[in-house]
Amino acid sequence: MIEIEARLSELRAMGLWRRIRLVSGPQGPHVVLDGKPVLLLCSDNYLGLANHPRVREAAADAAMRWGVGAGASRVASGTMTVHRRLEERLAAFSGRESALLFGSHLEASAGVIAALARPGDVVFSDQDNHASLIDGCRLSRAEVFVYDHGDTEHLAWGLAQAQGRSALIVTESVFSLDGDVAPLEDLVELAQHHRVRLLVDEAHATGTLGPGGRGALAEYGLEDQVDVIIGSLGKALGSHGGFVAGDRVMIQYLLNAARTAIFSTAPPPPAVAGALAALCLLEERPRLVDKLRLAAATLRAGLQDEGFDLRASGTHVLPIVVGDPELAVRICELALARGVFAHPIVPPAVPAAEARVRLAVMASHRAEELRAAAVVLGAVARAAGFDPRASVAFDEPDEPDYQPDQEPQLDERYQPAHAGPFDYERIAHAA
Ligand SMILES: Cc1ncc(COP(=O)(O)O)c(C=O)c1O
Repeated sequence: MIEIEARLSELRAMGLWRRIRLVSGPQGPHVVLDGKPVLLLCSDNYLGLANHPRVREAAADAAMRWGVGAGASRVASGTMTVHRRLEERLAAFSGRESALLFGSHLEASAGVIAALARPGDVVFSDQDNHASLIDGCRLSRAEVFVYDHGDTEHLAWGLAQAQGRSALIVTESVFSLDGDVAPLEDLVELAQHHRVRLLVDEAHATGTLGPGGRGALAEYGLEDQVDVIIGSLGKALGSHGGFVAGDRVMIQYLLNAARTAIFSTAPPPPAVAGALAALCLLEERPRLVDKLRLAAATLRAGLQDEGFDLRASGTHVLPIVVGDPELAVRICELALARGVFAHPIVPPAVPAAEARVRLAVMASHRAEELRAAAVVLGAVARAAGFDPRASVAFDEPDEPDYQPDQEPQLDERYQPAHAGPFDYERIAHAA
C-alpha cells in the first residue's frame, strides 16, 4: 500500500511542506494577500500584462466567440483559427518559420525533449535546468550527461566522449532561479562543431530580453542558429501555455511526435487570445522591456546597497541565496509582515545549501517601492540572523544524503561538484 499520510508526514519532517497563500483579485505589482495589500515580488507576470485591460478583453471576447475549451487535441478537432493566428505571430516574433502551441510550458519542454531524443542518444543538460527539462530527459530514456552549470569546457569534454552519437544539448537561456544567462554563443558553436541539436528554453527570456523582448537568443542574433526554441505564454505574456519555434520540418515533426501535443486537449481559446493580445501589446510597446530592465536595475542596486550578493544575475530574476531553507522561509515571513511578498525557494526546487529568496521584478513596479523593498529585505534578513554581507558556503551541500537529480553517465570524474535541482521523491527515499 502506498501510505499517503506517512509520505505527507515525511515531507513535513523534512521541512518540505508547502503552504498555499491566497491572493484576492488580479495579479498586479501589488496584490491583496490574506486581506492585506502587499508588494508582489514573486510573480513571473514580468510585464504586468496578465491584468492589462486589452488582454482581459481579448480573453473575454474569445470565450464568447470560440467558447472556453478547445474540446479536443490539436491533431483531432482542437485546432481553431485562434491557435493558428497566434502560432503565425509567435513564429514571426521568434524569427523562425513555424511555431507550435502547447497546453503549458512544462508540456512543451518535456514533450519536445522526449520527441527529439531516443534510447541510445545522449542529452547534454545544464545542471541548473528546470524540472520540466529534466523530466523531458527522463521521458526520452536517452542517456543524460549533466554538465556543470554554464560550463562549456565540461560540455565540450562530454561531447567529445559522445562523438558519433545522436545528441541534443538542452539549456535554459535565462535560468529561472539564478537569473543568469547561459553562454549561448559558445553553446551554438559547440553544437555546430559537434553536429548535435540544440534546444534553448526561453521561458524567462520571452518578452523580457533582447530587442522588443524577443528573447536572449535574439539579443545575440542567434535565434536562427538553434534547432528548437521553447517560449512561454504564462510569464511575460501574462496568459497560460507554452510554444515551440523552429523550422517548418521540425515543427511538423514535433506535432506528429510530441506526445504532450498529441495526447492533450488544445490550449483554451481565451488563454490563446489573451496571449495574442499581449504579444500585440509588446510589439506596439517595446518600451515595456526597457521599463522591466530599469526596474530590475533599481532593485538590484538597492539590494547591493544592503550588502546582498546576487550572484551572476543580470536580469529581472534576483536570487538571495541564504543556504538554509528555514532561514529562507523565515526571511520571507518577516518580509511579508512588512508588506513585501517574496517567495522562498527550498528543496525540492534546490538543494538545502542553495535555499534562497527568489525575487522577480515587474515592469509595473515603481522605483521608490523597489528601493523601499530592498531596505525591508535587508532589515528582515538581519533580524532573521542572516548578514547580507557575510558569504554563504555554496560548494558544500549540507545534507549528507543529498543525491543530484541527474548524474553524468559518461564518466564519474565529472560528477557535479555541487548540487543541482532534484525531486522530493529522491530526498524522501534517501531520508
Ligand atoms: C524554465 C521553465 N520552464 C517551464 C516552466 C513551466 O511553465 P508552465 O507553468 O507554463 O508550465 C517554468 C515555470 O516556472 C520554468 O521556469
